[in-house]
Amino acid sequence: MKITIVGCGNMGLIYARAFLKYNIVSKENLLLAEKNETRKQELLKLNIGEVCVVNDNRISDSDIIILAVKPQDFNELSLELKQVLKPNNILISIMAGMKLERIESVLEQKNIIRAMPNSPAELGMGMTAFTANKNLTMEQIRKAENLLGTTGRTVFFENEDLLDAVTALSGSGPAYFFYILKNMIDAGKEMGFDEATSAMLVKQTMLGSFHLLNTANKSLDELIKAVASKGGTTEAALTSFETNKVGKGLQEGIIKARDRASELSK
Ligand SMILES: NC(=O)c1ccc[n+]([C@@H]2O[C@H](COP(=O)([O-])OP(=O)(O)OC[C@H]3O[C@@H](n4cnc5c(N)ncnc54)[C@H](OP(=O)(O)O)[C@@H]3O)[C@@H](O)[C@H]2O)c1
Repeated sequence: MKITIVGCGNMGLIYARAFLKYNIVSKENLLLAEKNETRKQELLKLNIGEVCVVNDNRISDSDIIILAVKPQDFNELSLELKQVLKPNNILISIMAGMKLERIESVLEQKNIIRAMPNSPAELGMGMTAFTANKNLTMEQIRKAENLLGTTGRTVFFENEDLLDAVTALSGSGPAYFFYILKNMIDAGKEMGFDEATSAMLVKQTMLGSFHLLNTANKSLDELIKAVASKGGTTEAALTSFETNKVGKGLQEGIIKARDRASELSK
């Protein structure tokens, strides 16, 4: 298998490492097309693939070409990339909010997959949702899924519009999690703990609770009930959350993120 990653910044490098880790490609068959000089030097030092430019003719010999530049760099990139692509190339774009139709028309290509990963991909614990245009065969989609799955779990959606909701839920999700933790840690500080102690109490609690959720075979409501006894301390917190519409606020925020994602992808 031959793969090209176009734009080898944070995400591009995560994929390069994941493909090598699972022996999906050898470093001789992995092209890293990057324009940033400093980044190029870093990639050369890492020695994880062939560093090249975007108009390198070898790119079109790749079984899959991954587009991992920022959405705002896509137009400039396309001018060069178009010169080397062939009609049967398969492209996977991870550019947030960039619709299949736009990539198709700008690059004049037919076989496009659009994926939305998230940052835990770095640890192989990511969540990636993807969609494909109508030209791709099941076999080609499966091939792409194998690549995307090297960074965590994958889910395929036929309806591209759902990727805006994915962006809001799992794409931005890590930030919501960190936000909740930050507020819990701040509450700990308010009650007299130093930052490190408060962070330890909160982080271990969240880690343990997550595993409990995955193993206890109970619903979230049941798990909440098990901690919150009537008239007790947890109930005092939960009642205050309800009064302050914390849950509703969280849900509304996520829906706002979905709306912003669809606005940006227009
Ligand atoms: N980071 C995430 O958690 C995440 C999650 C989901 C999706 N994404 C998507 O992943 C994509 C990449 O994000 P990132 O955080 O990895 O960005 P990044 O670190 O900025 O990486 C992009 C790289 O591409 C280079 N580049 C720009 N134009 C190029 C061109 N014409 N030819 C070759 N290389 C070019 C950039 O160079 P310069 O620095 O010089 O511009 C940079 O090194 C984005 O579209 C983003 O929406 C990211």
